[in-house]
Amino acid sequence: MKRIVLLGPPGAGKGTQATGISQKYGIPHISTGDIFRANVKEGTPLGKKAKEYMDQGLLVPDSLVCDLVEDRLSQPDCENGYLLDGFPRTVFQAERLDSFLGCASSELCVVDIEVRPEALLPRLTGRRVCIKCGAPYHVLTKPTRVPGVCDICGGLVVQRADDSEETVMNRLKVYDSSTAPLIDYYGDGRLIRIDGEKAPDEVFADITSAVGE
Ligand code: AP5
Ligand code: MG
Repeated sequence: MKRIVLLGPPGAGKGTQATGISQKYGIPHISTGDIFRANVKEGTPLGKKAKEYMDQGLLVPDSLVCDLVEDRLSQPDCENGYLLDGFPRTVFQAERLDSFLGCASSELCVVDIEVRPEALLPRLTGRRVCIKCGAPYHVLTKPTRVPGVCDICGGLVVQRADDSEETVMNRLKVYDSSTAPLIDYYGDGRLIRIDGEKAPDEVFADITSAVGE
């Protein structure tokens, strides 16, 4: 049973690592960013509200996030664990998760993928993502084999709406003020620190060896 949280700034490589981690441990990958983007695409009421914040690089209010995640974690596929990507990202959300988990909260593995701030902006402005399967690419460091076409599923590969330089700068500020405090919050023995500037397969090996079998 693994309950894993991927912490780390925008562009740290959470999404890049999530697929392999979820496959290795046989647990669902739950990305709040992906859930919001799917709602934006479908034009749901939640998507309309979330978009106002996401487009500015701001966090969606805790009140819209916590119930959604608790509902998701109550689904049967989460009984044997899960991988959270992008949640929690405020101390309030972390406290809500701890109270939802109760006694199990001490078993949470919180993986902080660490990347220097100056390396994040080029990663994000050069990122491209598949609109169908979500696979992340990069124009310089991980281009698709055929321009604009996903290597994995053949879907269209585009730039994310919040990856413009201006919005990325806001997201990085919001990370510093609202999410970085979680590093101290989880400094009670639950935090695993990983160097996110190694090659992606090395980062994966470091994460899985620290999390264990
Ligand atoms: P979300 O989708 O979670 O975005 P984020 O946290 O800003 O993180 P990213 O997805 O941008 O980065 P990543 O770490 O996944 O990096 P990736 O692997 O793609 O959230 C989006 C928005 O939704 C938020 O701004 C907020 O508005 C809202 N939201 C979501 N959750 C919320 C919550 N809980 N509360 C409130 N609001 C919420 O990699 C990035 C690039 O780097 C890629 O091009 C990749 O190829 C490259 N790369 C990856 N690893 C490496 C490596 N090791 N070396 C070199 N390049 C690498
Ligand atoms: Mg991501």
